[in-house]
Formats: sequence, C-alpha cells, structure tokens
Amino acid sequence: MSASKLIRLQAIRKTYRVGVLEVPAVRGVDLDVDHGEYLAIMGSSGSGKSTLMNLIGCLDTPTAGTYELDGRDVSKLGEDDLAAVRNRQVGFVFQTFNLLPRSTALQNVELPLVYAGCSATERRDRAARALERVGLADRTHHKPNELSGGQRQRVAIARALVTEPALILADEPTGNLDSLTSREIMALLGELDQDGRTIILVTHEPDIAAYTRRIIRLHDGRVIADESHEPTH
Ligand SMILES: Nc1ncnc2c1ncn2[C@@H]1O[C@H](COP(=O)(O)OP(=O)(O)O)[C@@H](O)[C@H]1O
Ligand SMILES: [Mg+2]
Repeated sequence: MSASKLIRLQAIRKTYRVGVLEVPAVRGVDLDVDHGEYLAIMGSSGSGKSTLMNLIGCLDTPTAGTYELDGRDVSKLGEDDLAAVRNRQVGFVFQTFNLLPRSTALQNVELPLVYAGCSATERRDRAARALERVGLADRTHHKPNELSGGQRQRVAIARALVTEPALILADEPTGNLDSLTSREIMALLGELDQDGRTIILVTHEPDIAAYTRRIIRLHDGRVIADESHEPTH
C-alpha cells in the first residue's frame, strides 16, 4: 500500500470533449507527494495546470489512470463522495478569491464548516481562530468590498484552513495581487508550510514558484521536470 504518500497519481489522463472535438489536457501524469511537501506546478497557459489541480482537488475525475489520496482510491468516485472528500481533505485558494460578496469575512470562513455539519458556536470559534491565524482578527465583520485584495486573499486562505484539511491547493493565488501584496501572501503560505501543511500551488511566475521547495513543470499535459530546491524565503 501507499498510505505514506498523501498523493499518488498514476498514468493520469484528462480529455475534455467539446462537441465532436477531443481536447487532451493532461496526457499521462505520474506524481507522488508526501505529507508536508510544498510544491509549485508551473507551465505556460494551456499546459494543463488547472486541469491537474482540479483532479488533485477532486473537483473532477480523470479520464484514465488512478489517484490515491491519503491511501484511498478517489479516481472513480461519484459526485457526492467527491464532494465529501473535498470538504474533509482539501482547502482551495483561487486567483479571484471566490468570496461571497454579501457575507462577512467570518461568515465566508464559516461556510465549509456549515457543510461539515458543525454547530453554530463551533463554527464561529473556529472561523475566528482561522482569521486570527491569517492576521485578520480585527476584520471579522468586514465584507469583501471593505477589504483590500491581500486581505480578501487572507480570508480565502482562512476559509481553506478552517476545516484542517490534509491538503491546501492554490491556483495562481497571487495572480490578482500587486508584487508587495504577493510577497505577503507567499510569506503567509510559507508560515503554513512551516506549520507542516501540505501545499500545492499553481503559478506561471518563477518568482512565486521559488518560495516553494519543489517545482513540477508541465508542457502539453505532461510533466517535463520535477526538481527540489531550497526556497528563496
Ligand atoms: N472545461 C474544458 N473544456 C474543454 N477544454 C478545456 C477545459 N478546460 C481546459 N480545457 C483545455 O485544456 C487545456 C489545458 O487547460 P488548463 O488546464 O486550463 O491549462 P492552464 O491552467 O495551464 O492554463 C487547454 O487546451 C484548454 O483549452
Ligand atoms: Mg490555469
């Protein structure tokens, strides 16, 4: 068994069908990730980064190949089981933050706990702690439009953390941020790495990938390089 690996992808393929056209987005990827790794998936636009990330995050299932997450084969699960795996095991951070605009920071961070069936008190406590963890204890009642871009991304990171997932996935987390704010967000992700979290981020920016400890390069849906290195910060 491979229970010691958090992620084990074997011969993973994803082909989208658009009308009669077949688009092979991921074309045979093998990838193992240990608990506690911090890695970046790089590649030019269209190389399959988001598709691979969606597969790893159980937002989608592969056309072929097997995916074991924490020792469990999740490659053939149906939508309900996949949703349950996502809720328990994965925290997502997106380029566009994806916060509910009419809800406060606290309510946004509570949301995954609503789906997890936690009581109202527990939700509030845990969400407040997650917001404190990302340095936003004094912004809990602000709505997204009352926060800066960097603060919004911190709220999204708190939301990703609040369920204590095995894995945090971030697709271009600094793509909508200026360079100073990007560095702050990367410093925060670095702290979460130090806490022992497993983090996978997608980026096409070498400066951002340099914060991680391992870089996977995709080209036309295949892994063309897999290198470990010392993080720059
Ligand atoms: N939902 C989809 N339906 C059809 N084709 C898609 C879909 N999503 C992505 N693709 C195609 O798959 C390829 C990889 O896309 P994507 O994973 O988004 O790459 P990246 O994130 O590296 O830019 C591209 O050719 C893209 O056009
Ligand atoms: Mg993408």
